[in-house]
Amino acid sequence: MKGVVLAGGLGTRLGPMTGVVNKHVLDLFDEPMIHFPVRTLAKAGVTDLVVVVGRHGDQVRTLLGDGSALGVSIAYAHQEGEGGIADALARARDQVGDGPVCVILGDQVYQDDLSPYVEAFRERPTGARILLKQVEDARRFGVATVDGDRVTAIEEKPPRPRSDLAVTGCYMYDARVFDIVSGLEPSARGELEITDVNNAYIASGEMAFDVLPGWWADAGTHASKLKASILVALTRGVTFHA
Ligand code: DAU
Repeated sequence: MKGVVLAGGLGTRLGPMTGVVNKHVLDLFDEPMIHFPVRTLAKAGVTDLVVVVGRHGDQVRTLLGDGSALGVSIAYAHQEGEGGIADALARARDQVGDGPVCVILGDQVYQDDLSPYVEAFRERPTGARILLKQVEDARRFGVATVDGDRVTAIEEKPPRPRSDLAVTGCYMYDARVFDIVSGLEPSARGELEITDVNNAYIASGEMAFDVLPGWWADAGTHASKLKASILVALTRGVTFHA
């Protein structure tokens, strides 16, 4: 199964640095942000990757090169502007071809080894599979409503979340995903939303999910980036002294 790492968009929430630096080469403790999702895929056996880059994308290319230093093989695709996560995914269509795909956002850090979930999708690579995580304040995320073993709906950044289950930024899809993206209309914020893709799979009854036990962080805001850095540092055994 191919992997797609999305490192497009403008990263405006991490300004002013992102005016001159690609968000995904910024540091999380002692490493560039994008190393984390690349390694997460590699650990799960997804090593044939397409990295989609946007503004300052040459910095990502210089950093990752052909991927061999991280044990993966990388091809690149380009996204102009900030058309949304689903728009960025569409840029990888030609390189992915017509097999299943594991997509990860370039700002995600997972404590868990995702191998069991990726393996479950590999065994039956139809429909879609998402990874959920219980969070204290779900308003910043896509939020899933679950009934038994079914996801019944996902709402993108709801002011009043109907559950505490955030949709994390790793998604597995069958090859139909690119046709679903082609049929999307931009949302109110002018983006092609990955939540609309996921809701299409939910509507056809083909969405599986898992709830992650370990910590998960996205590094998309200054506060969440700091939290992600601290979690990474603690994992490395760093102690903080007053
Ligand atoms: O962190 C998980 C959340 O990520 C999910 O719960 C949400 O459902 C999902 O929409 C997304 O929300 P964010 O608002 O946090 O996404 P953000 O715009 O910060 O984009 C995250 C990454 O996706 C970014 O680091 C690079 C990639 N991206 C994003 C956009 C908007 C692109 O490659 N191109 C884009 O146009």
